[in-house]
Amino acid sequence: MKFFASICLLFLLFACGDAPQTISEDPLSTAQERLQELAARAIANLDNVPLDSMAIPRSLNEDGSLHAVKSRDWTSGFYPGMLWQLYAVNKDPELERAARAWTAFIEKEKYDDHTHDLGFKLYCSFGEGYKLTQDEHYKDVIITASETLIQRYNDTVGCIRSWDFNTENWDFPVIIDNMMNLEMLFAATRFTDNITFYKVANQHALTTMKYHFRADYGSYHVIDYNPTTGAVRKRNTHQGFSDDSAWARGQAWGLHGFATAYRETGNPAFLDRAREIADFIFNHLNLPEDEIPYWDYNAANIPDEPRDVSAAAITASGLLDLAKSDPVRKDFYLSHADKILASLMKGEYQSDVPPFFLQHSTGGLPNGFEIDVPIIYADYYYVEALRRRVELD
Ligand code: GLY
Repeated sequence: MKFFASICLLFLLFACGDAPQTISEDPLSTAQERLQELAARAIANLDNVPLDSMAIPRSLNEDGSLHAVKSRDWTSGFYPGMLWQLYAVNKDPELERAARAWTAFIEKEKYDDHTHDLGFKLYCSFGEGYKLTQDEHYKDVIITASETLIQRYNDTVGCIRSWDFNTENWDFPVIIDNMMNLEMLFAATRFTDNITFYKVANQHALTTMKYHFRADYGSYHVIDYNPTTGAVRKRNTHQGFSDDSAWARGQAWGLHGFATAYRETGNPAFLDRAREIADFIFNHLNLPEDEIPYWDYNAANIPDEPRDVSAAAITASGLLDLAKSDPVRKDFYLSHADKILASLMKGEYQSDVPPFFLQHSTGGLPNGFEIDVPIIYADYYYVEALRRRVELD
C-alpha cells in the first residue's frame, strides 16, 4: 500500500508541478488535486514518523531534528487531526489506522483541568475522528473533555481561564487563542442536550468580543481579569511584539474563532466581529503582497521580520467558513482565501522535511522558540482550508 501511495505521490507531484500557476485559473480543482497529493504524501510519510506516544510531531529543532511532544503539549491533537482530515479525502484504511492510533495517545488529556487547550488537543483529534466514524467512544471523550474544560469557567468574569502560570502577574488570564476551544463545547451540547456547554461557550465569546479588541478591531493577546469582580486588570501580550501590537496568529485565532461562534449561534454580533477582524487584516499596511503575514503586524523591522505561515493558514480556513455562512461578503472572503492558498502552494512556503507540508511559521519569537520553521498546526489548518475550499463548491 505504501509503495502504491509513493507511486501516486510521484505522479501527483509531476502532475501538480504547475499548481501555483493554475490556482488563480481554477482554485477549486487545484485544491482538490492538492488534497489528493497531501493525502498520498501523508501515507508515504507514515514510515518517517514511527508511532510513539512520547513523540507526536510538532516542529523542527534548530539542528533539523524532529521536535516531538507528549500528549500534554497543546499541539498534540494536530498531527492525528491532520491524518483524519486527509483520511476524509481518500478514505485510505492506512490513514484511518494511523489516525486512530495517534488519536488514542491523547485520550488521557480529557481529565487535565490545568489547561484551556482541551479543544485544540481533543476536538482536533477525537472531534475530527468522530465526524468521519461516528465512533461512540470518541463522542464520550469529547463530552468528558468538555466537562473538564468548563470547570475553568468563572461566571463573574464570563470566561474560561486560559493559563495557570505567571500567577505573580496575572490573576485570571484569558488569551484570544481560547476562542478556538469553544467549538468542542458547542459539539458537546449537541451530544448531550446539556445547554451549560453552549452557555459557557457563548458567554466566553461575548466577553472576549467586549474586552479583547481595540478601536481598530486588532486584538490584544492576553486580558487579565479580576476573578472576584470581573474587571479588566491588564492588557498584555505573551507571544506578540508588544502589549499594543497585533500578533499575527492572535488575529487569525480571533477570525477563525468568531466565524465558528457565528456558525454555532447565529448571533449577528459574532459575524460583525469576524468581518471587522477580516477588514483589520486585509486593510493592514504591513500585510505583504502575498498575504502571508509577518509574525506580528507591528514588528519593529518589517520587512526584515519572519513570516508566520500558520497565521495565514488559520486565516484562510476562517475566511472559507465565513464564505459559507456570510454570502453577502462571499467574494471578498473567497478572493483572499484563494490568494493565501495560492501563496502557500508556492515552492518557497513548501516544506520537504517529513511530515511537514509547510515552512516559515513562527511560534513564539519573543520567547525565542520556533522562529521561521515548519509547525504542525500550520499544516492542520492548511488542510482544513483546502477541504473547506472544496466543500464550498
Ligand atoms: N495557542 C498558542 C499559540 O498560538 O501559540
